[in-house]
Amino acid sequence: MRKKIVAGNWKMNLTYSEGLSLAEEVCKILNEKGIQDLEVLPEVLFFPPYLHLSQVVSICKEQEGVSAGAQNCHTEAKGAYTGEISAPMIKSTGATHVLVGHSERRAYFSEDDQMLAGKVKAALENDLTPVFCCGEKLPEREKEIHFEVVSSQVENALFWLDNNSFNKVVIAYEPVWAIGTGVTASPEQAQEMHAFIRKLIKEKYGEETAENTTILYGGSCNPKNAQSLFSQKDVDGGLIGGASLKAMDFIGIIKSF
Ligand code: PGA
Repeated sequence: MRKKIVAGNWKMNLTYSEGLSLAEEVCKILNEKGIQDLEVLPEVLFFPPYLHLSQVVSICKEQEGVSAGAQNCHTEAKGAYTGEISAPMIKSTGATHVLVGHSERRAYFSEDDQMLAGKVKAALENDLTPVFCCGEKLPEREKEIHFEVVSSQVENALFWLDNNSFNKVVIAYEPVWAIGTGVTASPEQAQEMHAFIRKLIKEKYGEETAENTTILYGGSCNPKNAQSLFSQKDVDGGLIGGASLKAMDFIGIIKSF
């Protein structure tokens, strides 16, 4: 069965001490009675700012099923790129994952498909799991070209991978109009797109790979709507922004399978 994951993307929020307290609190609650016996306990991931990463990794080491990743990485391993962080550096902290292609990176830092393919490559070469984000903007959905937009994002950044490498990738569908807006995709809209992405994977890599690929939903997911989203056949968990910044909200989502 494919992995269920709930991941918290902290974005550029929380000071160092606030971030560590949040990670500690979530891990502490996960240890409490009742949670470990849940029928489905997903893998939990934190995506803190770089600054917090190595210490969050240490906190996660104490808690089975919880790990940490970076919100971005550079395509190159090292060099004169002031302010940037490379995949080998991320790996050296003990982190296991990296977000690639979040819509905020695409929008504010001009990351395009070609660059994202390079970031996926850098992640995989360093044994980091890329969590590849895709999703259409509101005008694209209104024009009913959302399937074309998402298929070109997925194909351009990922479909050059061989089957073995593709099997290491996690995908997050995040409609841009739902991110940080309080407007969530309906469970039907999420399911429709997730099934579409899985079909693309099946056509390219075959049934087994498609069935084993974890596809997360992201965009205003919260403890109230998580269950209806996660109960959809092709939704394997969530990439959570705002609601991952409060321990009890994040825990509520983790318990939503
Ligand atoms: P949100 O963010 O949950 O605050 O909408 C999700 C994301 O950007 O990953």
